[in-house]
Amino acid sequence: MNNLNRREFIKTTAVAGVAALTSPVLSSEIASAQTKGKTFKPIAISSGNGTKALEKTMELIKKGSDALDAVVAGVNIVEDDPNDMSVGYGGLPNEDGVVELDAAVWHGPSFRGGSVASIRNIKNPSKVAKLVLERTDHVLLVGEGALKFAKAHGFPEENLLTDKAREAWLKWKENLSKEDDWLPPHSIEDTDIGEIISKYTRTYGTIHISAIDLNNNLSCCTTTSGLAFKIPGRVGDSPIIGAGLFCDNEVGSAGSTGRGEANLLNLSSAMIVEWMRQGKSPEQACIMACERVQHRCKEKRLLDEKGRFKHGVTFYAINKDGEYGGANLWEGGTYLIHDGTEVKKIECAFLHKRDDK
Ligand code: GLY
Repeated sequence: MNNLNRREFIKTTAVAGVAALTSPVLSSEIASAQTKGKTFKPIAISSGNGTKALEKTMELIKKGSDALDAVVAGVNIVEDDPNDMSVGYGGLPNEDGVVELDAAVWHGPSFRGGSVASIRNIKNPSKVAKLVLERTDHVLLVGEGALKFAKAHGFPEENLLTDKAREAWLKWKENLSKEDDWLPPHSIEDTDIGEIISKYTRTYGTIHISAIDLNNNLSCCTTTSGLAFKIPGRVGDSPIIGAGLFCDNEVGSAGSTGRGEANLLNLSSAMIVEWMRQGKSPEQACIMACERVQHRCKEKRLLDEKGRFKHGVTFYAINKDGEYGGANLWEGGTYLIHDGTEVKKIECAFLHKRDDK
């Protein structure tokens, strides 16, 4: 590059740089103006417990709702449902019998996230997570602070422990054995401690939804009561951006359900989006997340006799073009897609066959 050209180059790039710096943060309204007159095919993906949630999400998106508003309204149905014992009201409590909820949201067009962890007495943590995004300079609020923030915004405190959940907790407590999360000093080679495949309904259930709205903007939400009978204060992957969900409006959106510890150690959702950025399909990216969890787990107590990661972890992803995919470490997982017409149940890709003994 000669001097003149270099000066020109610097001038041009400097102007471009200033323009980039002074451009307002892209809001959904701005994105909407940019795509004026053009509407895109909406799509929404969820975990298997999201049929009604997806119907709500798509109903709102078709009316022109921003994807974030739509996914939060969708998951609110499951948070309100006492019969889903993995999310919100009626969720299984911690080991003290207290329900603690985790949730996070991500808004693609503004590239912002919000989350709450270990929040008690508030039925809809996803709504509080959205308010953290919209009404604070923070990303994550936890415990007492998250509760105070929710109350400041008018959320009522409610008892979230249903009789059904309390009875399940009591049964677990009455059968306490090695099925809790406290580990004595041990070696990475130990296989007979901390066994957590349970007869007593210890689940990691959760709901995740990622969606594309009519303006081709992506957003997502993950919300959960977390691992049943967890140590109080345990935070799973759901409220941790990059672990239980991630989204890049230029690339795609991803989330997960299942053993949160695996995603906290692998930042699985961020990795899925990055793999999609590199050209992988959503399904390929989800399988790569499964492989990463499997490959990096060195703790024998978490592996079966063939060295396979024992737990289920399911990944869900959509890309900017509306392609979608899901994968679980184990055969038999499913996910749901709403393609604008109806909800479809789809078999997940998987790493391990169940009968592969
Ligand atoms: N994936 C939900 C949890 O582990 O809390």
